[in-house]
Amino acid sequence: MARNKVSIIGAGNVGATCAHWIATRELADVVLIDVLEGPAKGKALDLFEATPVFKLDLNITGGGTDSYDLTADSDVVIITAGVPRKKDPVTGQFPSRDELVKTNQKIVGEVAREVAKRSPNAVLIIVSNPLDAMCHVALNESGFPSERVIGQAGALDTARYKAFLAMELGVSVRDIHGMVLGGHGDQMVPLPRHTSVAGIPIRELVAEDKLQEIIERTRKGGGEIVGLIGVSAWYAPAAGTVEMVEAILRDQKRVIPSAVMLNGEYGYDGLYIGVPAVLGAAGVEKVIEMELDETEKEMLKISADAVQSVVGVLGY
Ligand code: NAI
Ligand code: 2OP
Repeated sequence: MARNKVSIIGAGNVGATCAHWIATRELADVVLIDVLEGPAKGKALDLFEATPVFKLDLNITGGGTDSYDLTADSDVVIITAGVPRKKDPVTGQFPSRDELVKTNQKIVGEVAREVAKRSPNAVLIIVSNPLDAMCHVALNESGFPSERVIGQAGALDTARYKAFLAMELGVSVRDIHGMVLGGHGDQMVPLPRHTSVAGIPIRELVAEDKLQEIIERTRKGGGEIVGLIGVSAWYAPAAGTVEMVEAILRDQKRVIPSAVMLNGEYGYDGLYIGVPAVLGAAGVEKVIEMELDETEKEMLKISADAVQSVVGVLGY
């Protein structure tokens, strides 16, 4: 049986770590593409050289942006290409948010066009920031149906939320159940009403002030890592992405909070935002509409408004 194939465009921290998690789980052959040809080829070769140690049967290849043909007929394409928000070495200024959106729009748009030509049936998983807006770019530029253009954010934000709860309670991460909805930003919406430890409602186990601290820490989880390392996170973001890849390749019908294009669900139309989605071979197979109370709806609206303001910069 032919193996599945996953291409990763952007072989930086998140992209290379996605390749690593995919390899260790033996999910698919991997192709790494980057404007920096040497690092893409080198990381692919280095990772392939590790496969005999763990007896992993998969191919890992890499190339520059003149090697898009390597990606042909991928089942899933992960897009992590982009530039981070960093100081201009000449002016010492940070780019404005809008400038960064425009720069990454150009990059993600070009990547989406290139991969769509060669893998017309692939599911695209977008990781590049600003996440929700970049999903709009990939959707527009690939011409794919929205069920095959999905953003990764909720898997990561939910993992962080669960990790902080497990640390607080001293219990296994396996027994924490919960979800984070909304856009990938400080206005994301953790849902304590739907959080439990082995079925026990979280509010029976964690005091309200502590719970609110954990919610705030989750919202600022990306910034916490930047503060510690100096650049943004990659292990947990890549793990969240590969959780989605696995659900799609193995047609698992997993319910994973994902950035999906809403068509009326939760009262939003034509906007990418994080909601619970059933992920399987077809991509987003269903959006689950949960009942939210008034406070949760208000928080989701604040988050959706924040996403909308970035999407507005794209000019579509
Ligand atoms: P990185 O800087 O390590 O990697 C980005 C890579 O993209 C670089 O290797 C760069 O050379 C490459 N690249 C730039 N333009 C390209 C093009 N036109 N074609 C192909 N490759 C190109 O950054 P990192 O840490 O891997 O993050 C990648 C993106 O993911 C960033 O936008 C980051 O903000 C975002 N991110 C999103 C998360 C999420 O939960 N959605 C979590 C973590 C990061
Ligand atoms: C994160 O949440 C920066 O989006 C990235 O770590």
